[in-house]
Amino acid sequence: MGKLSAGFLACLLALAADDPGERLYQAQCAYCHGPRGEGGRGATLARSRLRHAPDDAALHRVISRGIPDTGMPGNSMSAREVEHVAGYVKSLGRVAQPPLPGDPQRGQQIYSGKGGCSECHTIAGRGGPLGPDLTDIGARRSAAHLRASLTDPEADLPDGFLQVRLVTRAGHHLTGVRIDEDTFSIRIRDLSGAVLSFWKSELAELHRDRGKSPMPSYRGPALELDDLVAYLASLQEAR
Ligand code: HEC
Ligand code: HEC
Repeated sequence: MGKLSAGFLACLLALAADDPGERLYQAQCAYCHGPRGEGGRGATLARSRLRHAPDDAALHRVISRGIPDTGMPGNSMSAREVEHVAGYVKSLGRVAQPPLPGDPQRGQQIYSGKGGCSECHTIAGRGGPLGPDLTDIGARRSAAHLRASLTDPEADLPDGFLQVRLVTRAGHHLTGVRIDEDTFSIRIRDLSGAVLSFWKSELAELHRDRGKSPMPSYRGPALELDDLVAYLASLQEAR
């Protein structure tokens, strides 16, 4: 594929496709789910069993209504179009995926050992709360997205994530992740995981660092990266 971006490839595939389901898919779904269903910010669809869509009725529902409180949007396709896209999604699941190179068991050791990942992330309720929960990350993200999240955490931040830096009137500097905010107050989780609330009137400075992440990029050897990705990809449990 060389330097072709996934978006450009999706465009070409959309133009070239004979099948109306494939055309719709490349135009409306591929930028999240990958031109071949390999996943990206969206779940991997090239698999025989889909968590949210165990049967045709559920698949149609997911495609037309989306999945509430996730990055999966609904859309205004007609019932016929939904049926076409659903047919195409099912065909993706019949193509075998290449196995991942790493060893998930070694990846788990790095994760909870020297990787220091569990200080910030929870899996099945265990770990620190600063980063997103990873319990079912393997079902929600592609291996390529997981790898990029480790080597370049700022490349594609999860929806709703915002790093903030603030300075109180008393002169304290804090960095954290926004939990919520309204006109008068803001709640953050600082780097130690503690939840702190402030009235905005108490703050001398408030910076919203869009596109920034407190997560360090992983600098270990390539083989360890393979192992970590294999471990994360194996995390498929429903939350
Ligand atoms: C803006 C990004 C985005 C777009 C566009 C998008 N999706 Fe999704 N989709 C997601 C995400 C994220 C999830 C995973 C939700 C979760 O489980 O947290 C998902 C989940 C799904 C699932 C469930 C997968 C499973 O394992 O159960 C199906 C099926 C699906 N999408 C199909 C589609 C189709 C077909 C389209 C185009 C009509 C589409 N999506 C467009 C982001 C997107
Ligand atoms: C200092 C806290 C911190 C540490 C340590 C940390 N992370 Fe993160 N991680 C975050 C935060 C915050 C995010 C959300 C913003 C982003 O994507 O960078 C994140 C995002 C991620 C994502 C993307 C999640 C998604 O929904 O796309 C993955 C995967 C991930 N981390 C895995 C790891 C692994 C594996 C390690 C250990 C090698 C690790 N993290 C170490 C804080 C951390």
